[in-house]
Amino acid sequence: MKVLVLCVILLQGSQHVSAVELYEGDSVLLPCDFYTFDLDNPTVVWSREDLRPSTVHQRQLEGDELTEQNQAYRGRTSMIADALDSGDLTLNLTNLQLSDSGSYTCTVRVPTDELKITDVQLQVKERFPTWAIVLLVLLVLVLAVSGGLLFHFRHYFMSVYKVEVESGVKSVQLPCKTTAHLPVDAKVEWTDGDNRKVHVYENGSDRPADQHQDYRNRTKMKKNPLRTGDLSLTLRHPTGGDNNTYTCTVYNKEGDILMKNQVILDVRGGEIYSYE
Ligand SMILES: *[C@@H]1O[C@H](CO)[C@@H](O)[C@H](O)[C@H]1NC(C)=O
Repeated sequence: MKVLVLCVILLQGSQHVSAVELYEGDSVLLPCDFYTFDLDNPTVVWSREDLRPSTVHQRQLEGDELTEQNQAYRGRTSMIADALDSGDLTLNLTNLQLSDSGSYTCTVRVPTDELKITDVQLQVKERFPTWAIVLLVLLVLVLAVSGGLLFHFRHYFMSVYKVEVESGVKSVQLPCKTTAHLPVDAKVEWTDGDNRKVHVYENGSDRPADQHQDYRNRTKMKKNPLRTGDLSLTLRHPTGGDNNTYTCTVYNKEGDILMKNQVILDVRGGEIYSYE
């Protein structure tokens, strides 16, 4: 009888090796087929010989026997309910870990014998390899740093002048020049960082009525600014209170912006007070 069983086993159990490649978190079916229904009290053991304990999953006639199961596989293995009746001994392994990579052996045991049915090589890969994550983090850092530098030094890229004077000087000139041809009916508007009108030039003349009171009688533009392209503004008696970013904007008759230029004024020393 034993000889007969062994012959059957040898005929059926043509051992084969297959390989499966998957990613972390995936599920996999490790195939194993064997006509166990002929056998007397069979036990199926899925194992990894490189682990201690080596048992990944064990199925007997009474059902799963997992007391010997390696803890790394707890709750992640299953076989179909009628595996021993159908001979489909496929192992369902879920939530794959990198450490699941290895050689899985499907073995059928009878009280008198043990037969290795199949080996399956499982290769679990990282979905995002560490080097890719490191590269991504570095890239983000480089972008953040260069973005920060660009923002910090934006004045250099945005043609923003910085004008520095000592307090007490009679006047300071905020430069704004263009070589572009400006229409004679363009409007020039100087504003400060609080969007208050510092000086308005429209229809060929200054518009003191439009300017903020802090700048009244303190501003002056050159003659024929639209013709010369020199829209610079002279600010008299600058004080620390005038420290600000000034914007020179040119509009055409339709209100489109033809040019825009910024000047930072830094008046050093002296008290901060404003002229009323
Ligand atoms: C494998 O087992 C998981 C969890 O029990 C289940 O959701 C999934 O459907 C099974 N896969 C197959 C092919 O039976």
